[in-house]
Amino acid sequence: MTEGRPSAASTASLWERDAEIATVARALDVLCADRSSAGGVLVLCGEAGLGKTALLTETRRIAERRGCAVWSARGAETLRSVPFNVVRQLLQPALLSLLPEEAREYLGDSYDIAGPALGIADPRDDSPDPQYVVDGLVEAVCGLARREWPLVLLVDDAHWADQETLRWLAAFTARLADLPVLVVVARRPGEAGGESARHLEAVAAVAGRPATTLSALTPDATAGLTRATVGRHADDAFCREVWAVTAGNPYDTVELLAKVRDRELQPVEARAGELRALNRTARGGDWSTGSRASAWSPRGSPGRPPSWAPTSPSTWSPASPP
Ligand SMILES: Nc1ncnc2c1ncn2[C@@H]1O[C@H](COP(=O)(O)OP(=O)(O)O)[C@@H](O)[C@H]1O
Ligand SMILES: [Mg+2]
Repeated sequence: MTEGRPSAASTASLWERDAEIATVARALDVLCADRSSAGGVLVLCGEAGLGKTALLTETRRIAERRGCAVWSARGAETLRSVPFNVVRQLLQPALLSLLPEEAREYLGDSYDIAGPALGIADPRDDSPDPQYVVDGLVEAVCGLARREWPLVLLVDDAHWADQETLRWLAAFTARLADLPVLVVVARRPGEAGGESARHLEAVAAVAGRPATTLSALTPDATAGLTRATVGRHADDAFCREVWAVTAGNPYDTVELLAKVRDRELQPVEARAGELRALNRTARGGDWSTGSRASAWSPRGSPGRPPSWAPTSPSTWSPASPP
C-alpha cells in the first residue's frame, strides 16, 4: 500500500495528513466531552498550497459530524485595512440568527460598544478607544459562544486578517481556559509583520503546543496521488518526475495532474520530460507576487467596503471555497 493514502474515514482525500487530522480529532474530543471543558487553540502553519484550507474543510466536516456549530472566516490581502472585517465574518451566522432584541440581550453591556464594530448597531458619535472595542467584542463573543456549545471557530489565512481582528483574537483566546470553544487558525509563516505578528504570537502561546506545520508530500504520496488521479498505470519514473517538478506541493501537484489529464498525456517515462513545461502553464500565476493568492480572495471582495459596514451575508466557509 502506498504510504500516506487518505484514510477510508476521510472524504477529503488528503494524503499524508493523518497526524494532523488526529490532532484535530483529539481537540474535538476534549471540546465535546463536557460543557465545562476548557477551550483550545490549534495553529496550522504552512506555505501557500500545502493544504491549510483543505485541512480546515476537513476540520469542519469532522466537527459538524459531531454536532458542533462551526463559524468560519478568512483573511484577505485586499481587506487587511478594514477594521474587524474578519471577526464580523466569523460572527455572521450567529448574528443573522438573532433578532435585534436578542442581539441586545446576548451582547448585554457590550452591545453599544461592540455592536457598531459588528455592523449591527449605528456607529457612535465619538470614536472609542480600539482597546475598549476589543474588550467589548471579547465579552460579546464569550456571551454568544456560551449558548452555542460545542462551538468551533475557523480562521483561515490569518496572516492577512485585519489587525483589529488579530488583537481581538489574541484577547479572546486568552479567555479559553474557562470557555469551551475550539479555535483553529491557519496561516502562512512569515507573512504577518509588526503588531499583527505580535498578536498571532500571542494566539500561538495560548495554543500551548507548537503549531502544526504542514509538510510537502513525499515522493511516495505524490506517486499515490498521481495514480489516483491519472490512472494506476502511471509508471514510477513519471510519478517521480511529478514530485521533482512540484516539490510535493499539493496545490502544484493537483494543478499539474489536472493538466496531464486534460492533455491526455500518457503517464509514462517517455512523456515525463513534458511535465516541467506543463507545470509552468498549470501555475497560472506568479507565486512570488501573490497573484494566485489574490485570485482566492473571498467571494465578491473587489474593493474596500466602508470601515464599519457589515460584510455580505454570504460568509466564506472552508467547506465551500469561493
Ligand atoms: N494532503 C493533500 N493531499 C491531496 N491533495 C491536497 C492535500 N492538501 C491539499 N490538497 C489540495 O491542494 C490544493 C491546495 O490546497 P489548499 O488547502 O487550498 O492549500 P493552502 O490553503 O495551504 O494554500 C487543493 O486543491 C487541495 O484539495
Ligand atoms: Mg488556503
